[in-house]
Amino acid sequence: MFSFSERLQKLPPYLFVELDRMKAEVQAKGVDVIDLGVGDPDLPTPSHIVEAAKKALDNPENHHYPSSVGMFSFRKAAASWIKNRFGVELDPQKEVVSLIGSKEGIAHFPLAFVNPGDVVLVPTPAYPVYHIGTLFAGGETYYLPLLPKNNFLPDLESIPQDILSRAKILWLNYPNNPTAAVVDKEFFAKVVNFAKEHNLIVAHDAAYTELYFDDYLPPSILEVDGAKEVAIEFHSLSKTYCMTGWRIAFAVGNESLIAGLTKVKNNVDSGAFQVVQEAAIAALTGDQQCVAEFRGIFKKRRDVLVEGLKKLGFQVEAPKATFYVWAKVPDGYTSADFAAKLLKEAGIVVTPGNGFGEPGEGFFRVALTVDENRLEEAIKRISSLKF
Ligand SMILES: Cc1ncc(COP(=O)(O)O)c(C=O)c1O
Repeated sequence: MFSFSERLQKLPPYLFVELDRMKAEVQAKGVDVIDLGVGDPDLPTPSHIVEAAKKALDNPENHHYPSSVGMFSFRKAAASWIKNRFGVELDPQKEVVSLIGSKEGIAHFPLAFVNPGDVVLVPTPAYPVYHIGTLFAGGETYYLPLLPKNNFLPDLESIPQDILSRAKILWLNYPNNPTAAVVDKEFFAKVVNFAKEHNLIVAHDAAYTELYFDDYLPPSILEVDGAKEVAIEFHSLSKTYCMTGWRIAFAVGNESLIAGLTKVKNNVDSGAFQVVQEAAIAALTGDQQCVAEFRGIFKKRRDVLVEGLKKLGFQVEAPKATFYVWAKVPDGYTSADFAAKLLKEAGIVVTPGNGFGEPGEGFFRVALTVDENRLEEAIKRISSLKF
């Protein structure tokens, strides 16, 4: 037996691996489990995207090593998508890099800019990879709690001066996983000013900008004047086009930040399969009606779940974006107790809020990744429980 590196030993168990194990245990008893845990949409990738991949597969030119920065045609498609959606001009040569899913880019980015002992500012509760990437780079995480009283925004003014002077990167993610919180452009403008004042890199994870509802339209941080001086933004095709399995995303923004991430990638991966990049080009440059349809589906699911939970007395608000619902657990329960009760007594998987970080205690997250009938069934099962 070989012992793991200290780096690996320091890692908390990856949240969803543990949830999968518990789910398998319950399923082994024959329970019809409703999985509202992982944020993996159940809907298939639109057919015009799949067709583009099939065509690209027949082209032997796509059977070779890709480049880690990505095909120029892919980077051009990403830049024009950003221009159409956010009105931001990008140089596809210098300000865009392809990623093998945004998780890859998020995990690798700190390796390019963090030295051992540097501080990285990480929101909590949050997607776990901001902290994990920091650890792998030898950095120290300083957590910024996202609290209901601040509308789940970080309180930048509360960061002590000695932390700020050692801090290299500030991670943000809006629309937010897991809280579903959203921001406006003014918030990003404040962040950009703050970053310039304190010589910080802003790394914005924009995985959910296309899953919005009602009258809300999520901004890109790059819409703010001067943002390109300090910011990199991670976009993913995973949720927007229901392409989680394809592993394709891209980062955009400050030229030197893109160059640093590209340099790491040049040394650890050989890029995304060109067939997948061709599919992504079809997604980014094709008809965006499919994305509007996905939004419609998630909105209906959101309404079924939120109205159902409200009727049962849960404290919950309809999210303006993302396919997550962030709800308070009933009084007298911890997040873990409540999630365990739902799994054991109702066969429902939800994610305990504290799994994303301690300030998530007292909440649970529901992913709207099953159809309306299953959500209605979930509400029915919850209504039969005693709290
Ligand atoms: C906030 C956030 N960022 C990034 C990702 C990673 O997405 P992908 O690697 O599929 O692009 C996820 C996936 O769940 C996420 O929730």
